[in-house]
Amino acid sequence: MDRTQQHITIGPADVRVFEDGAALAAGAAAMITSFIRQEVTKAREADGRLVSVAMAGGSTPVATYGRLATMDIPWSGVCAWVGDERYVPPDHEDSNGAMIGRSLLDRAGARFLRVPWAADRPAHEAAALYEADLLASMGEDARGPRPDLILAGMGGDGHTLSLFPGSEALDITDRWYVATEVAAGQPWRLTATYPLAHRATAVYVLVSGESKAPTLAKVLRPTGDQPLPARRLMEGAAPVSWLVDRAAAAGLDLP
Ligand code: 6PG
Repeated sequence: MDRTQQHITIGPADVRVFEDGAALAAGAAAMITSFIRQEVTKAREADGRLVSVAMAGGSTPVATYGRLATMDIPWSGVCAWVGDERYVPPDHEDSNGAMIGRSLLDRAGARFLRVPWAADRPAHEAAALYEADLLASMGEDARGPRPDLILAGMGGDGHTLSLFPGSEALDITDRWYVATEVAAGQPWRLTATYPLAHRATAVYVLVSGESKAPTLAKVLRPTGDQPLPARRLMEGAAPVSWLVDRAAAAGLDLP
């Protein structure tokens, strides 16, 4: 059931507003399920490749993953990966891969590419290895890889994936997945870059809660000339849908 309360366009942004966090989780799960079913059917009729889905980290998507765990999804036709990861052991409490596995993929039957962490492996080396795994796992065209769906969140500072304001990773144009040193939490993170995100068939950004309202307003209705990292997801060809609850949308001055 589509529980979208409001579907609007703000500049390049497709925005779907849901009543609250529970409705957002249900609505996002419905959209993700529909996308995966459609793309797995197309892939199976074409070349049999796996549909490439980047899973979002952080806390916002946990409720959505819980709803997805109850849905009938052809996970055997999916190769899932992490849009970004903290560079920590796979069982660490901060690991996005561990959260995603616990919430959904440990029981779903999808192929799930996890970051190759090792105590004696620098983050940059892990990023290069993971980038190679991703390139081997997803479709491509003459200009590079073509992920199918990227799920992402947005931090209170306007970061997305692990692309933080002021980071050198924001300006990378010749890599698809990199290591980046951040001030937040774990010092090293691995992240998809804009070149990869921009080549997705679809990007869904999940934003929930009143604490995100001021930042979401700056991202979707910018007043300054320096776009926040989350807004830059919309600089490529990939259509970006912002799946938000009413609390997070409070600053958008909706009709
Ligand atoms: C991470 C995420 C990050 C997250 C935002 C929002 O590794 O933390 O990938 O980009 O999506 O920080 O986090 P919350 O959903 O916890 O607010």
